[in-house]
Amino acid sequence: AAADPALVEAGEKVFKKCKACHKVGDGAKNATGPMLNGIVGKAAGAVDGFKYSKPMQAAAEGGLVWSHEALAEFLANPKGYMKGTKMSFAGLKKAEEIDAVIAYLGTFGG
Ligand code: HEM
Repeated sequence: AAADPALVEAGEKVFKKCKACHKVGDGAKNATGPMLNGIVGKAAGAVDGFKYSKPMQAAAEGGLVWSHEALAEFLANPKGYMKGTKMSFAGLKKAEEIDAVIAYLGTFGG
């Protein structure tokens, strides 16, 4: 289903909190964090050329997929969801922010 444009626009604003570490869009490259094109519905820890933490590698081997639900839990509290992740981010406090940023990420294909 096509995402609600207002939600996507709100998500673009939320993504300002992620931009220091993550790129999306044409030609997006890995930076402090992996590039996030195609991340919604993608296997975790699978971006070529990015060196993930041990726990992210273990989650990937365990079959973690970034469903909407998994992303929402991770983004609410990254270090709570995945002990030892090297994503140094406190998390998004509001459910609306989380829904919006996932909708925004969903507009970037693999
Ligand atoms: C990993 C999203 C903020 C650094 C990830 C992953 C997602 C994500 C979905 C998993 C990627 C994968 O499995 O390929 C976001 C979003 C953010 C955000 C939506 C803002 C709301 C940040 C910030 C930083 C950062 C601010 C840097 C200070 C990283 C790093 C990883 C990562 C280093 C790899 C984690 C590991 O290997 O344990 N991020 N991120 N992220 N992110 Fe973020």
